[in-house]
Amino acid sequence: MKRYSYRERDYAFAQLMLTLRTTIGLTQAGLGERLGVSRRAVAEWEGGLSYPKAERLKAFIALCVQQHAFAAGREEEEIRALWKAARQKVLLDEDWLRGLLAPAAPVRLSPPAGTPAAHAGAEAVAFPRVDWVEALDVSHFAGREVEVAELSQWIVQERCRLVTLLGMGGIGKSMLASYLGQRLAQEFEAVLWRSVRDAPSCEELVADCITFFSQTPPTAFPASLEQRITQLVARLQASRCLLVLDNLETLLESGDREGGYLPGYEGYGRLIGRLTESAHQSCVLVTSRERPREIEALEGVRSPVRSLRLAGIDEQAAQELLSDKELSGTPAAWQRLVAGYVGNPLALKHALAGPAPPSAALKTIGGAGGALAALAAGAGAAGQL
Ligand SMILES: Nc1ncnc2c1ncn2[C@@H]1O[C@H](COP(=O)(O)OP(=O)(O)O)[C@@H](O)[C@H]1O
Ligand SMILES: [Mg+2]
Repeated sequence: MKRYSYRERDYAFAQLMLTLRTTIGLTQAGLGERLGVSRRAVAEWEGGLSYPKAERLKAFIALCVQQHAFAAGREEEEIRALWKAARQKVLLDEDWLRGLLAPAAPVRLSPPAGTPAAHAGAEAVAFPRVDWVEALDVSHFAGREVEVAELSQWIVQERCRLVTLLGMGGIGKSMLASYLGQRLAQEFEAVLWRSVRDAPSCEELVADCITFFSQTPPTAFPASLEQRITQLVARLQASRCLLVLDNLETLLESGDREGGYLPGYEGYGRLIGRLTESAHQSCVLVTSRERPREIEALEGVRSPVRSLRLAGIDEQAAQELLSDKELSGTPAAWQRLVAGYVGNPLALKHALAGPAPPSAALKTIGGAGGALAALAAGAGAAGQL
């Protein structure tokens, strides 16, 4: 397969396509079937590697209009932006657009009643209910292809029920969880992101999750944590949900080899323990700097409980991450720069952030008077994040 360099990828277009497809609730294969292209073609659009032909793009836009995927009242504007982003050689067909947006001419997504559905499996699923407000913006997500593939395999194909992303601060756990959640949203009926950074009580957090995952939110909750967790597990058994619990380390005793919880937060141990032990059809994705002890007993390569320790990003991803800094350097210089910050994206970004743009001399990393020396001087700090 041809390997594309990061410079050739059109991430802005890729993100638009991915967002629209997830909003209309189709899988890549499902969308491919509707548009008469392969799943791979859809994957290439979403990888920013190619653009659809005009006719396919029109069919896609029509589908998005039918499914209300564009912001209400801004459909025309967003369609024009998509057409432009898709680098079409022909101008947007104005008559067609007017007809498409005219309220009198609705186009059916489903075949008329009585017509056998050509691809029953490719019908749009009900939209997942989503609360993703606290997740990170992934429009500049870079690299991590291997991790994304592996985690998607665990979550979608192998149906792991509890997956923990481990790694030092700034390494990209929340970013990866955000990206995965967005990418896999259509696999779930409901998708919820909760950070525990503000240390909510476990009772409070569980009640919040029960409310979100309930068809009819309860008006009262059991007083006991154990019973609340039982209600949550019941929701996770009844439908396929994705729950991200971000920043679990906030509640862990720092540096405690036992992976114990801070006083008053031991309830989280019960929560993680029960989410790990109980059979349910959902997936809980935890991010933490340290490994919570409850997952250890059940963790394994064939178990539905897994963890992945994130290493740093590679040079190619680092170049993408720092592309707006317009740095240039030899492969060896990039290698040294990335290694100096153990591939920690946050540390790399901080190292290159500054009030003034780097001077032309500094833009060449690894040169005699280049930025590398200055950057390397700060590199030691990365390991402490
Ligand atoms: N794969 C990535 N692509 C682009 N930027 C990233 C990536 N991973 C991390 N970053 C950048 O590094 C910052 C820190 O990442 P984050 O996910 O918050 O780290 P963690 O949750 O492990 O502490 C993010 O805000 C983002 O700017
Ligand atoms: Mg984080």
